[in-house]
Parts: sequence; C-alpha cells; structure tokens
Amino acid sequence: MYQFTEEIISKYSVIGPRYTSYPTAPIWHEIDRKTQNNWLESNAGSERAISLYIHIPFCRERCLYCGCNVVVTRQQKASSEYVPYLLREIESIAKVRQRNRVIKQIHFGGGTPNFLLNSEIEQIMNHIKDRFELNTDTEIGIEIDPCSTHPQLLDFLSGIGFNRLSLGVQDINETVQRAVNRIQSKETTYEHLVAARQAGFKGINFDLIYGLPFQTLQSFRETVDEVIRMRPDRLAVYNFGYLPDRMIHQRKIKPETLPNPATKLEILLDTINRFSEAGYNYIGMDHFSLPDDELSVAQKNRTLYRNFMGYTPKSGMDLYGIGMTAISEFDRYFIQNEKKLKGYKDAVDSESLSGSRGLKLSDDDQRRKWTIMKLICHFYLDFDEFQKTFEQRFTDYFADEFSNLKELEEDGLIEIHSDSIVVKNIGQILVRNICMIFDAYLMKQDTPPVKYSKTI
Ligand SMILES: C[S@@+](CC[C@H](N)C(=O)[O-])C[C@H]1O[C@@H](n2cnc3c(N)ncnc32)[C@H](O)[C@@H]1O
Ligand code: SF4
Repeated sequence: MYQFTEEIISKYSVIGPRYTSYPTAPIWHEIDRKTQNNWLESNAGSERAISLYIHIPFCRERCLYCGCNVVVTRQQKASSEYVPYLLREIESIAKVRQRNRVIKQIHFGGGTPNFLLNSEIEQIMNHIKDRFELNTDTEIGIEIDPCSTHPQLLDFLSGIGFNRLSLGVQDINETVQRAVNRIQSKETTYEHLVAARQAGFKGINFDLIYGLPFQTLQSFRETVDEVIRMRPDRLAVYNFGYLPDRMIHQRKIKPETLPNPATKLEILLDTINRFSEAGYNYIGMDHFSLPDDELSVAQKNRTLYRNFMGYTPKSGMDLYGIGMTAISEFDRYFIQNEKKLKGYKDAVDSESLSGSRGLKLSDDDQRRKWTIMKLICHFYLDFDEFQKTFEQRFTDYFADEFSNLKELEEDGLIEIHSDSIVVKNIGQILVRNICMIFDAYLMKQDTPPVKYSKTI
C-alpha cells in the first residue's frame, strides 16, 4: 500500500523531468548532417545489438488531449509518400553498421502506425530483414489505435513477425471519451486484446491517461476495475499533459472540466494501489506489469532500461530512430531527427539522414546518466558496480549529492547502505525527485527554461 502524508506531498510536489533520457532533450543542441554522420561512423565498430524505432506520424483524426507530434490527414497517399523515406534512412543506417550485428528489438510508434497499409508495413519489415540479422526472440512491437482498425490486423501482423503490442485506451468512461473526441467502446478494446492473445502477442500494454476532463475518483476507478478484469500484461498510466498555449487543439478542452490537482493526486494514488492489489508490479514512472511479464522479470534481474519508448526489458543496445522526430541513442550520443514532415523529407532527399538536434555526452554526463538509469529502472544502485564501470568511488564522485540524499533518507524515500542505495516504497513513486539530485543541468544558469510536469 502506497501512502503519503500531506507534508511529503507538499514538499516533493515540484516540477521535474521524466528522464526518458539524461541529459534531457532540451539540453541538446542543433547538429548538422556531417556531425550526425561522424557520430554514426564512430559507432560502426560497436558490437552491441540494435534496437530500431520507426516513427509513423499520421492519424486520421486528432484526439483533443493528444500531446504527440502527429500529422492529421485522411489521405492514404500520405503514407505511400512517407515510406520510401523510411526505407532510405534504414539503408543509411545499414551502411554504417558492423556486419552480423543482430536486431533485438523493432518498435513501430506514432502517431498511429496502423495508418500504414498492410503492404507498407510488410515492405518496411522486408527491407529491415534484408539488411539486418533478426533472432527468433527479436521483439517486434507496434502501437495500435483500436478505433481506427479491426482485430484481424493482429493476425496479419503476427504472420509477419510482430509479437508485442500496445493499445491506446485512455479512459473507458463515455463522458470523458466524448469530451476528448476519442470514442472507443470497451468491447472494441477487449476484442483487440483477445485477438492479440490468440495471435500469440506477448507483453500486451494498455495506455491510460489520468487528469482528463470530467474524470472523477469514482469514474477512473471504474475504468481501472474494467481494465483489471481484462488483465493486459502491462499498463502505462500517463498524467495528462495539458499545454493549451502550445497545442491549439487542446484549447477545445476547457480547464474548468479538468479534475483539480487534489483529485488528480487521489486518482493517481488510488490507481497505483488498485493495480498493486490486483497483482501488478509497479515498475516505476507510470508503468505496471504482471509478475510474469518480461518487464517485471527484467526489473527483478536488474536488466530493465528506460528510453524514449518508456521501459524496455532489454538493455545494452544501440537505438536507431527512423522517421520524422525519431530519436537515436548509442554510445555517448543522442540524435533527434527533423521534427516537421517537410523538413524531414527535405533532409532525407538531400542527405539520406535527417538528424537535426543531438548531444555528445561528456564523461560527467555519462556518470550521471548511469546513476539516474539505475535508480529509475531498478530502484537500486550498487556502489561497487559504479566503481567497476568508471574506476571512481561513487561516494567520492558524488560527495555533494550524497549529502543531499540524507534528507530523502530521513523522509523515508531511500535507504543508504554502506554499499548501495535502495529506493523505498514512497520513493518509488517519487523517483524523479531522487534522480533530480543527480541532474547537473537543473540548477545551471545557462540551461534553457523548460516546462516540465509535476513529479506528483
Ligand atoms: C503516440 S500515442 C500512440 C497510440 C495510438 N495513436 C492511440 O492513440 O491509440 C501514445 C500514447 O500517448 C499518450 N498521450 C498522448 N497525448 C498525451 C497527453 N497529452 N498527456 C498524456 N499522455 C498522452 C496516450 O496514452 C497514447 O496512447
Ligand atoms: S492519441 Fe493516438 S490516435 Fe489520438 S491523435 Fe494522438 S497519436 Fe493520434
């Protein structure tokens, strides 16, 4: 049972990054294609397995809450015009890779990847299979919007190798669904889940969002209970990111229809407790999974990793992002592709690559990234492991941070042992606050101002 005192809530409810990367994306700077090429080539000798992320930005309709970088269109030709660019980018990555490097993970994200025609998905998969080695246990996942497809799609996907699935659900309550222009019956959701199971998909995930208009503690509890009855393997429960200043479509959501911060907090804690009581493990940062799911097993074995796709059971891979806005993460580099469709296409047309922002991590960045990833993924950090990796004593390197950790220990968020840090029950919910102690950029004068979300 996760319980918080008023004092802890007011003390630790601050704004902070979600650490899908460290340093976080706003810290990165503009790069040109020559730099991207140099960074890719410096990684050519890597023997690490590969993870490929393919971004499909298109959606037929806009859900009013959506904060993703999408292209709304009903014109099917949008995808036939886009796919050749993906193929060219894949080719460019294939050219610089070391022979016989295996792809352990492929993920199609969006937008809505099921905007693509089946033949287009197959074309991309064949293009990848012709250029890289895939194993029998390669994870091939896709995000699906159940409103814009039918369960038979899952048979097709499974037939060409897909074995992981994420379904957007958000909320089952009809009033909430109408208010956000996303009408999706619970039967539709359930039919997709059943079809996915029958087709052999594993690690099936549902996305939910709390903080949407007209949600109440009771209404969201009913959604949670319905989801528990369906029992997907994994859950992502996101805090609604409401930025009407930046996203014009979100202005159709009136602020007075949103649950207030106190209700949101009640919903969050109730949701965490209900999923925990129903047998789900709290993986951290909005994610849950059943004990036999790979995410839970990876957390137990301390092989869990966190990147732009959220938590992943496979660590130690080089991630290459394909498509507009996609992010690559390998060695000591982050690269993000052009964020607008036209800019992306122009870049690939002229140079076959489209990186526009990125960062080469310093030695200090790497030590902090390692530390933040251990805390956020495993709720545990071993000082010896740090010393073996970086040939420095953790307590010496982070002497200042270490003294700041004492207060978190007194508040019950962590336990500091002679050889390790263990993140305790409430510290797991507040893990961002713990990571923020190791974030060197938060206090720097020259760090660009960023609107992060609240940690709780
Ligand atoms: C890129 S969408 C992919 C799924 C697919 N397009 C769909 O809607 O079913 C990934 C997830 O991001 C989440 N999301 C989108 N906008 C959000 C926002 N403003 N705040 C919090 N979560 C959001 C939703 O849960 C959504 O399912
Ligand atoms: S939530 Fe999914 S379907 Fe809706 S607009 Fe965003 S990406 Fe598209």
